[in-house]
Amino acid sequence: MKCLKINGGKKLSGSISVHGAKNSVLPILSACVLINGASVIHNCPKLSDVDVTVDILRYLGAKVERNNDTLTVDTSDINRFDILECQMKELRSSIIFLGALASRSDRACLYLPGGCEIGLRPIDLHLKGLKALGYDVYTDGHNVCAAKDKVKGTEIVLPFPSVGATENIILASVLAPGRTTIVNAAREPEVADLVNFLNKAGARISGTSAPTIVIDGVKSLHGVEHTVIPDRILVATLMSACAITGGEIEVKNLFPEHIMPTLPVFEEMGCNIDISNNSLYIKSPKRLNRVKKIETMAYPGFPTDCQAPVMAALSVANGTSIIKETIFENRFKHIEQLNLFGTDISINERIAVVNGVKNIHPADVKCTDLRGGAAVVIAALKANGISTVSDIYHIDRGYECIENQFALLGADIKRINDEKKQ
Ligand code: UD1
Repeated sequence: MKCLKINGGKKLSGSISVHGAKNSVLPILSACVLINGASVIHNCPKLSDVDVTVDILRYLGAKVERNNDTLTVDTSDINRFDILECQMKELRSSIIFLGALASRSDRACLYLPGGCEIGLRPIDLHLKGLKALGYDVYTDGHNVCAAKDKVKGTEIVLPFPSVGATENIILASVLAPGRTTIVNAAREPEVADLVNFLNKAGARISGTSAPTIVIDGVKSLHGVEHTVIPDRILVATLMSACAITGGEIEVKNLFPEHIMPTLPVFEEMGCNIDISNNSLYIKSPKRLNRVKKIETMAYPGFPTDCQAPVMAALSVANGTSIIKETIFENRFKHIEQLNLFGTDISINERIAVVNGVKNIHPADVKCTDLRGGAAVVIAALKANGISTVSDIYHIDRGYECIENQFALLGADIKRINDEKKQ
């Protein structure tokens, strides 16, 4: 088992480029199923979630090749329309393959994903959307299946702007005859990136930055070349690490409009931020200010994925910050781990009360989930002395070699075999 050994207490400094967005590349790879031919996708980060998605595509019959950050995906020979239990268990978001596979074939069956470490993550909105389009959706043992019945465009009103459900409905309707309208659709930049990819491939989809997405069905899609957008959650993670260590860094290759929902929080902490073109410069004060209240919301609100990294930074701020998690019902598991560093964070249902402490000490902690894992790494970067972080497979799902990224900014961080306790 690998873990991270972090000798904390060093201010981060220097310059770093962000990699492509995990939450874009995954649905875009699923969308390749709808294309008959080869697509070239640039800026695909080397993440374990991407590896699993590539494995699924190969299992389905696609040819996928990686050349550095570019994936070439040829889906001409797709001949399977199911996904195995082991694949679905490794990557629950692979449920977004359902819409694409059902659209390409007469019937698709995916092993039903169970619960998840950050909440129940039901898929009812995905399934209701597919049913409304005319798919026959049913369970078969442990599988959820969608069979093409009389599929045609329709209006679907989402009670909540679910990212995954919006993407699944787009994939299930892009080749359906007629017009599909998704009311109260997710407006996350990653949904827009998926739509841009599909439109380049010949789809007719409009309205991605508005709450209503309109999809006019087309007969077929062709292969395209596309560059995945930069990862806005990685930007906030790097900013949180810079903030907690009192550092000063430049983050390059980002889309400024995508990070706007998080900027006021870092400004309230007292960070100095300057954005020019596609780069951001952040300098943090000697001691961070508390933030009165953060409430996670669907885009363009404060992202739930940034909640844990930002909480780590606020754990040493001057004063008490309140963080309300409104998107996932169980996304505070990292708090127990953060408190092992000597932080003072308590939970009352969906509200975390973060009493900033002056100093934290090193600790041996584990990752509870992807973003919670990033949060404990951030705390370890602050704590003077050696901390270890285990269960880092969670982090590898969404950050490309996180130790290399922080080492580039001057951190003393290494990946080691924890048996050796080097
Ligand atoms: C995506 C992101 C994830 C991010 C989340 C919210 C990917 C691969 N993952 O996850 O990083 O944290 O958006 O921005 O893009 N819900 C239902 N029924 C459904 C679907 C969702 O009740 O059918 C609920 C979920 O339980 C959750 C909330 O809606 O409480 C948000 O989920 P959703 O927006 O769908 O998130 P994901 O697509 O799973």
